[in-house]
Amino acid sequence: MQLDPSTLNEKEQYKLMTGAIVPRPIALVTTLGPLGPNAAPFSLFNMAGSAPPMVMFSVGNQGDGREKDTIQNLRHLPEFVVHICNEAIAERMNVCATDYPTGVNELVKAGLTALPSSKVKPPRIAESPVHMECKVMQIIDAGERHHVVLGEVVLFHFHDGIVNEQLRVDIVKLNPIGRLSGPNYARLREFFKLQRQFVGEVPKQLVD
Ligand SMILES: Cc1cc2nc3c(=O)[nH]c(=O)nc-3n(C[C@H](O)[C@H](O)[C@H](O)COP(=O)(O)O)c2cc1C
Repeated sequence: MQLDPSTLNEKEQYKLMTGAIVPRPIALVTTLGPLGPNAAPFSLFNMAGSAPPMVMFSVGNQGDGREKDTIQNLRHLPEFVVHICNEAIAERMNVCATDYPTGVNELVKAGLTALPSSKVKPPRIAESPVHMECKVMQIIDAGERHHVVLGEVVLFHFHDGIVNEQLRVDIVKLNPIGRLSGPNYARLREFFKLQRQFVGEVPKQLVD
């Protein structure tokens, strides 16, 4: 089966992409606007690089063309905190996805606890197992209505016991969830290993 996106409408393209590009990690992103803090989840999210540590997420405009509060806030103050969403905060993350009027603090609506950040002004969320304080490097206005935010991580916070002395993150303790299509989510339960094969010497520094 071949499908040419130019023959599909945006909803159809969205269905194919969000059905096939799975599972997607979920960043619960806090920002700070003139009317106070804001929190919203984004699954068009990933690591973007490691020199320096970088993350990216993509924010679409609202159906009526309005920019979402997250983008409006980032244009005002180019700082944010990314929180990895795990099973324990899944329901509360979902409350933060409600399109409340600008200025409504989703953290209060969701019953999440705001903590002060150290290197950026937007607050962080106590209940999330991982917080990454970030500064905006670029906002790329892409296509008809998306804004890809590229940010540098300037400080990591992990709940105690998640990272060991070798800096390995315990996936079971982290217990992240993944977004599938529509209202569907996935848990991570079964793991397996693949050793990388090398021709000749094993490189000193592995770069994926
Ligand atoms: C799990 C999940 C993932 C989402 N991912 C995105 C995304 O990647 N990009 C986006 O624009 N909206 C995404 N949304 C919708 C936004 O969270 C929603 O529009 C939110 O109200 C935006 O908030 P804001 O206006 O406060 O920025 C997602 C919603 C959920 C529940």
